[in-house]
Amino acid sequence: MRSALLAALLGLSIAGAAVAAGLSLKDQMKSVVEPASNALFAVGGDVDPANGPDAAKVADARWQEGLKAAQALTTVAADLNRAQRESEPEWRQAAGDFARLAAVAETAAQARDGAGLSTAANALADTCTACHTKYKPKT
Ligand code: HEC
Repeated sequence: MRSALLAALLGLSIAGAAVAAGLSLKDQMKSVVEPASNALFAVGGDVDPANGPDAAKVADARWQEGLKAAQALTTVAADLNRAQRESEPEWRQAAGDFARLAAVAETAAQARDGAGLSTAANALADTCTACHTKYKPKT
């Protein structure tokens, strides 16, 4: 009885570390990661020098949107890195790539580096698939 309670409490504290922001992983994905990454991918397209000479003239507000989105993702990344699956190499790899690329995107947005931002955004999209393939429940 006592050890069952202890096990339940331990389980809770491990799950709790993964959701420091008070949201479940699923809710963070839905309410933060999905909208922020969509915003980042869209801004990445706008500032990509491959999309034409006007990419360099992207409005300041657009860069700010990209920066805010990247910052939201770096916040979630800290949680992903603390998730209970961090002992599994595939999780660590995907969560680590996610964190690194969100930080690269953030720096690129601050520096108004269009090539850097679009490259990071594209690579970030690959981490979603990499992690979901193994860890997201199939519906
Ligand atoms: C390190 C792992 C990992 C990475 C990286 C990751 N996800 Fe997820 N994501 C998950 C897991 C696990 C779930 C399933 C959560 C559940 O159903 O409990 C999920 C679920 C989701 C969902 C479904 C939420 C719902 O309502 O069911 C969306 C949308 C999502 N992720 C978007 C993204 C996007 C976009 C990216 C990349 C920018 C991304 N995720 C990167 C692990 C990850």
